[in-house]
Order: sequence, then structure tokens, then C-alpha cells
Amino acid sequence: MESSSRRRQSIAVIGAGGVGGSIAAALALEGWHDVVVCARRSLDEIVFEPADAMVRLPVRTCVDPAAASPVDWVMLCTKAQDTPSAAAWLAALCHRGTHVAVCQNGIGHAGRVAPFIGPATAVPVVVYFNGERVGPHHVRFRHVGERDLAVPDDAGGAALARLLAGTCLRTFVSADFVTLQWRKLLINAVANPVTALTRQRLAVFAHADIRALCMDILDEAVAVGRACGAAFANDEGATVLAALLALSPNLGTSMYADTLRDGVLEVDALTGAIVEAGEAHGIPTPVNRTLLALLRAISDGARARQV
Ligand SMILES: NC(=O)c1ccc[n+]([C@@H]2O[C@H](COP(=O)([O-])OP(=O)(O)OC[C@H]3O[C@@H](n4cnc5c(N)ncnc54)[C@H](OP(=O)(O)O)[C@@H]3O)[C@@H](O)[C@H]2O)c1
Repeated sequence: MESSSRRRQSIAVIGAGGVGGSIAAALALEGWHDVVVCARRSLDEIVFEPADAMVRLPVRTCVDPAAASPVDWVMLCTKAQDTPSAAAWLAALCHRGTHVAVCQNGIGHAGRVAPFIGPATAVPVVVYFNGERVGPHHVRFRHVGERDLAVPDDAGGAALARLLAGTCLRTFVSADFVTLQWRKLLINAVANPVTALTRQRLAVFAHADIRALCMDILDEAVAVGRACGAAFANDEGATVLAALLALSPNLGTSMYADTLRDGVLEVDALTGAIVEAGEAHGIPTPVNRTLLALLRAISDGARARQV
């Protein structure tokens, strides 16, 4: 039952992919807030498939930024490299009281959106759940571990946790958000580049020489993360690799999927962020730099073929 003190809020979800589709569906399922999906194509409903069900949820879509007006919350759910392409949406949706939840991988979320959100407040979000778009309007949702989202322990993070409190998305408010952000980046910095470059699922980690490469990637990234304030354990890299090895070898990654479909890769927000932060702190990252050069070339080729 809804508390009468809980204000109904207007929420715009930009990007109806795996993450945006899941968040829009979770909000629609709860049914309390006023949700609009801002997408490039109209959709009347989202077919939402959590582990134990499949529900069809009517959703309101807006396909033209000129038709959008300011909202209380924006959920920015594009890939990181598509943030500038959402500029017109952000300009139309943001005003002084708006919060922009940046539901993307990587670090530096607030800086990434700062040029586009005017006086609105950015709320960085670490996404843990798995949202897979299996059809144009169809999203498969899976919890991965105990948390679906993590936010910083500040006013914006607490507000997002309250907003989502009635939904299936379990939001963790963290006093050490920097460490969580970097920990997620470590996983992505290994799993995405290696699966994309080898065009193989996690089964590729069965190769001893690939595991040795992973540790080299992680050793660099852990050193950079620590310099950026992440409170990593002494065996952080080994723990990340062990966690990846414990996952099903049949799992892919988003960069693996994007490579197979000849798509642009989210490489600058992941490997690029490690190399850039390494430069800022005077920490050499030769292995990540090599991966970055290779992945950027693949990504740039895909971008050129899209034009
Ligand atoms: N999926 C996961 O399980 C997961 C888990 C953790 C973190 N993440 C991170 O979450 C972020 C989103 O990932 P995702 O998997 O949801 O990506 P995705 O499935 O590729 O979805 C991105 C969506 O953004 C839309 N989009 C891009 N530019 C747009 C624009 N200018 N206006 C409107 N819509 C636009 C795309 O539209 P089109 O369909 O028209 O291309 C697509 O629907 C990424 O940073 C990813 O690394 C994902």
C-alpha cells in the first residue's frame, strides 16, 4: 500500500535497452510514478521477463525531444559513448530540480553528463543486475547477487533509493561508492575486452595464458584504482578473476555482443578510463593501453560502417 506522503514523481527513462527497459518495466510494474520512455522508436509496451514470470506492461513513449518537458527524474540508460547523442533529451527534460541517475558503466558519471544537464543534479549509479534486450520490446531481467543498483551515500543517492524503494530493484546506498565503482570497472576491464577481442564467451578464461593476461590487466587497473581512492584488498585482482571464473562459461559480455553485431564499443568508458586515470596519476598501463588501441580500432571501424 502506498504511503500518502510518498509523492508521485515524473520519471523519464532515456534508452530502452537492457538497463533502461528493465528500469522502466520495474517502475511500470510498481505503478506509482509517472513514467515515460524516451527512445528512438515508439513502443506501446515492454515485455518484462524476470526469472519467474513474463508480464506485458503498457508504457508511454516519447520519440521527439521537442515534445518532452522537464521531469523530476531522468534515468540515463544509454551506453556511455551515446551520452552526447542524448543531449537534446537531457536539455528538454532537465531543470533545476531534476535528478539525473546515470545508469552506465565506468567512472566519472557526473563529469560525463555535466555538459548536458544544466542545473540538474547528477546521481552516479553502479548497475549490478543483468538486463538483456531479447527483442525490440522484450527485456529479460536477472538479479546478480544481493544488489541491483548502488548509489553514493549523499542526498541524490538517498533520493534515488527512496524513489525505487517499492520496485523490484534493490538499491544499495554506499558510504564508499568510489570503491564499488572501481570494483565494477575491474570486472568490466577484464571481461569485456578479452571476450570482444577473442570473440569468445567467458569460456575463453579456461586458457592459462588468457588468465595470465587478465592478471596483468587487473594489476594495472588495481594500482590506478587505488590511486583514485578505491580501498582495494591486497588480493583484489585475484578475487575479481576468481569471481569471473566462477560464472558460467556460456555467458557473454556486452562488448562481446557488440563486437559480433559490428557495433560501436563502450571502450573509452572502461579501458579508456583506466588508461586516462593512470596517466593522471603517473601510473603506467601498457597492457590496458594495448587493449585500448585494438578495441578503439575495432570500434572506429564499426562506427565508419554505420555512416
Ligand atoms: N545490460 C546490462 O545487464 C548492464 C549491466 C550493468 C551495466 N550496464 C551498463 O548500462 C549502460 C546501458 O547498457 P544497456 O545494456 O542497457 O545498453 P543497450 O541494451 O545497448 O541499450 C542502450 C539503449 O540506449 C538507446 N539509445 C542510445 N542513444 C540514444 C539516444 N540518443 N536517444 C534515445 N535512446 C538512445 C539505444 O537505442 P537503440 O535501440 O535505438 O539503439 C538502446 O535502446 C551501459 O553503460 C552498460 O555498460 C549494462
